[in-house]
Amino acid sequence: MPAEISATTPTDVIDPCAPPGSAGRALRVDIDLGDRSYPILIGAGLLDAAGTWNHLPRAARALIVTNSTVGPMYAQRLLAALAPHYGSVGLHQLPDGEAHKDWSNLQTIFDALLEQGADRKTTLFALGGGVVGDMTGFAAACYMRGVPFVQVPTTLLAQVDSSVGGKTGINHPLGKNMVGAFYQPLQVVCDLDTLRTLPERELSAGLAEVIKYGPIADLQFLAWIEQSMAALRQRDPAALAYAVRRSCEIKASVVGQDERESGLRAILNFGHTFGHAIEAGMGYGNWLHGEAVGCGMVMAAELSMRLGLVDVTYVQRLRRVVQAAGLPVQAPVLQAGGNVARYLELMRVDKKAEAGQIRFVVVDASGHARMQSAPDDMVADVIDACCRG
Ligand code: NAD
Ligand code: GLY
Repeated sequence: MPAEISATTPTDVIDPCAPPGSAGRALRVDIDLGDRSYPILIGAGLLDAAGTWNHLPRAARALIVTNSTVGPMYAQRLLAALAPHYGSVGLHQLPDGEAHKDWSNLQTIFDALLEQGADRKTTLFALGGGVVGDMTGFAAACYMRGVPFVQVPTTLLAQVDSSVGGKTGINHPLGKNMVGAFYQPLQVVCDLDTLRTLPERELSAGLAEVIKYGPIADLQFLAWIEQSMAALRQRDPAALAYAVRRSCEIKASVVGQDERESGLRAILNFGHTFGHAIEAGMGYGNWLHGEAVGCGMVMAAELSMRLGLVDVTYVQRLRRVVQAAGLPVQAPVLQAGGNVARYLELMRVDKKAEAGQIRFVVVDASGHARMQSAPDDMVADVIDACCRG
């Protein structure tokens, strides 16, 4: 499955734009989806800058959806920035955490919309990490069969992945992200300043999704990540800006070619088949999504090696970079006395599975990825090896 993904270097400047009133210069990455195309703005100080919001369609109402952690930190600033553009701006706070990405909390967004008299032009703003973004996007897709929404991601993971590309949804107790819709935002605003308050563990989780883009699409980027890991973990603004920008470029390119995951887009799930099993098997929220994906990428690399696609040095390299990001590389035992069976059971619920056959994203040494199934005993071998550490 060849990915036509443009290569750029860290010194490139793509389509810079400085929104009037912005504290810093913003980079702009465009996602090309015909009449549903939209910009991803990346920069410091974007939240408060009037220019960030100027070109959004005007409406009588807007609703900021956030959570109990991010709301107290950033909602008032966003509210003040949006106030000139909408007749009224409401605020709805969800409880914090993956465990709350469910039907009952989704329902509270519809309650808030109806109580505030929201109409078809009411714009939703998702202010927070991937959980808030996925839930708000899904609410926007469903309310009155679709209202506009804007992603304002405040975690590294959300800025490099979940806010881009229109996958929205919630978890089901039997499977991760099993209920949802493809629904694109009007705009994505990545204010890099918000990453300053992110807990270290969450920063590491976001780095997992940054690392992902290297093996699947750009080995030059993987080398840059390896060299820049200390700077990234110290939140060096230039390093973070480049990591967000290059990740968004790759994701925009993939989604622009295959919005609804009929083929190519599945490569973005590298590490996710194993990772989703870890998340669900450990109970949502116990392993962070990024932690599970980091470990899952090591497992997927092990599988790629057993399939003859990469050698042991490749696997070691991937393990090292995941570890350097502060992520776990030893897979958890999900069920004593039946661990492999439990992994297989959970992985069969994966959205990529077909007729009960699990399909994995595997990588080769030239920086490409593809979907492939593997014999159960080979997968069992990977699980055993990775759970041993
Ligand atoms: P999250 O949304 O739970 O956020 C992580 C934690 O950081 C939360 O406690 C949150 O309150 C806190 N937080 C957020 N911004 C903060 C800030 N600036 N300062 C301090 N604390 C802050 O988790 P996440 O890692 O952002 O997202 C994970 C979710 O995203 C998962 O549900 C996953 O399935 C989903 N996801 C979706 C896609 C997609 O394409 N839609 C892609 C990848 C992941
Ligand atoms: N995070 C995987 C995707 O957006 O397709």
